[in-house]
Amino acid sequence: MSSGLPHKLRRAAAIVAARYSPATPAYLRKIMSVTGQLSVDECKLLYALASEVSAGSVVEIGSYRGKSTTALALGSRDHAGIPVYAIEPHEEFEGVLGGSFGPQDRVAFFKHMLRCGVCETIRLVNLPSEVAACGWAAPVSLLWIDGDHRYEGVKKDFEC
Ligand SMILES: C[S@@+](CC[C@H](N)C(=O)[O-])C[C@H]1O[C@@H](n2cnc3c(N)ncnc32)[C@H](O)[C@@H]1O
Repeated sequence: MSSGLPHKLRRAAAIVAARYSPATPAYLRKIMSVTGQLSVDECKLLYALASEVSAGSVVEIGSYRGKSTTALALGSRDHAGIPVYAIEPHEEFEGVLGGSFGPQDRVAFFKHMLRCGVCETIRLVNLPSEVAACGWAAPVSLLWIDGDHRYEGVKKDFEC
């Protein structure tokens, strides 16, 4: 048995429990219904951080199918309602751990945003971060970086 398996199984069980348990708050059940790798605790944290932002904007780099986007958007929507910019090109991309991403994720992203009721809070910027950064003018109060996880990719996201 792989040494990583028990951890992965525990994590998957926690996600299923959070998604279907009647004791789970409605906002968290919605987030856990979106495809993505974020853990329950990570989703709770993003929701809580976004709910503390009262001015400016929330910016996310790397949205995939919108799990973290939903967490940030629900946190914002349930409190100050400030805009959440989702910077994500939805083009062919190979992740550092072998994940494959592409235009099919754009379809899933829109479906998830509609179903979760966050279309009025999010602004999808369907471009790579380095292109979106050119001429960016909106004040940023919270930045969540989850795009290209290679060292050079993360460094570029910080710098732009
Ligand atoms: C790990 S996934 C993001 C997961 C997502 N945050 C979630 O909650 O499920 C990485 C994503 O980063 C995107 N990406 C890669 N390079 C990017 C760049 N330069 N700017 C913005 N997004 C990028 C990929 O297309 C992919 O969808």
